[in-house]
Amino acid sequence: MTVSAAPVTAPVRLRPEIVALPAYKQGSPATADSFKLSSNENPFPPHPAVLAAIRDLDINRYPDATALVVRQRLGERHSVTPDEIIVGAGSVALLAQLISAAATVGDEVVFPWRSFEAYPGLITVAGATAVPVPLTAQSRHDFSAMAAAVTDRTRVIMVCTPNNPTGTVVTADEFAAFMAAVPTDLLVILDEAYAEFVDDPFAVDGAALVRRYPNLVILRTFSKAYGLAGLRVGYAIGPVSVLDAARSTAIPLGVTEAAQRAVLAAMQVEPELIARVRELAVRRDKVQAALREQGWAVPVSQGNFVWLPTGPATAAASEAFAAAGIVARVFASEGIRVSIGEAESVASLVRIANEVVRTL
Ligand SMILES: Cc1ncc(COP(=O)(O)O)c(C=O)c1O
Repeated sequence: MTVSAAPVTAPVRLRPEIVALPAYKQGSPATADSFKLSSNENPFPPHPAVLAAIRDLDINRYPDATALVVRQRLGERHSVTPDEIIVGAGSVALLAQLISAAATVGDEVVFPWRSFEAYPGLITVAGATAVPVPLTAQSRHDFSAMAAAVTDRTRVIMVCTPNNPTGTVVTADEFAAFMAAVPTDLLVILDEAYAEFVDDPFAVDGAALVRRYPNLVILRTFSKAYGLAGLRVGYAIGPVSVLDAARSTAIPLGVTEAAQRAVLAAMQVEPELIARVRELAVRRDKVQAALREQGWAVPVSQGNFVWLPTGPATAAASEAFAAAGIVARVFASEGIRVSIGEAESVASLVRIANEVVRTL
């Protein structure tokens, strides 16, 4: 028997700003004859050591709520104490926790835009006001405009490098100047979900800034470089007082035992995983070079994706990509973000991009 959804308008009073939020849009799934290049995932299959580590779990038991062993390992890596690290169910969960810890009704959160799609929604959920600051014409953070957007009500500033979806990095010098320009009682979150893919020596590296600023939290994830997107683990490094507050806004027990074990196993085979990342970075640079050769004005991407600024032609372009078996992330009237995926996807991507660029 099939049951169809009843068209009920519940008489429950909901927060209007939540009802008005657009639903989270996940990257479109692939079909049998297409490549899923819509979610910036790692195309390599899970490492056998990681798969072995998540077998035979006592799933009748709760996980360690504080992920202590993972924090210890990460602490050793970054030369900080486990208390200076917080682990969450993906870095997006930590983003939500940090924003909720610092900003609420009447407060403002400044962030670059366009950037990671989750930012505005998480800010609204916290009750705070989103203050998007447009990227420059070169698709980079506009730090003078971001500094100018800070008011007495600002509580959090997001910095995303490499920026999703444009792939552009923030330089170490830009970031240092920005940190010097903004008040030290504002939480600055440096979202580095794609840090491992960066090879630009001038790019800011959050790991080198640990303990440098009393108001800086660095956000990293195991989803991209380490290929654990499906298990949901991210971490933040920052001042204990800020992280303690972010622990208080968490939904308890979000990081499963499988996720914790997978992270420990992935850290054991890290050189192999980083070799995969380097391979993807080389693939990215080849794709970018080919696209530029074709006439695309692609910003220099240091992530595992490239940004095609298709502007008003986006709808038609995305149809052409889909028809060619390239399932990408489409931003209506702005552009298309294509993840760097399987080696086999590159030829189709470059071929269809060459056709589409002539139509722009
Ligand atoms: C810039 C940025 N930050 C954070 C995330 C969240 O990643 P996760 O929650 O899988 O760690 C993403 C995911 O796409 C992202 O692009």
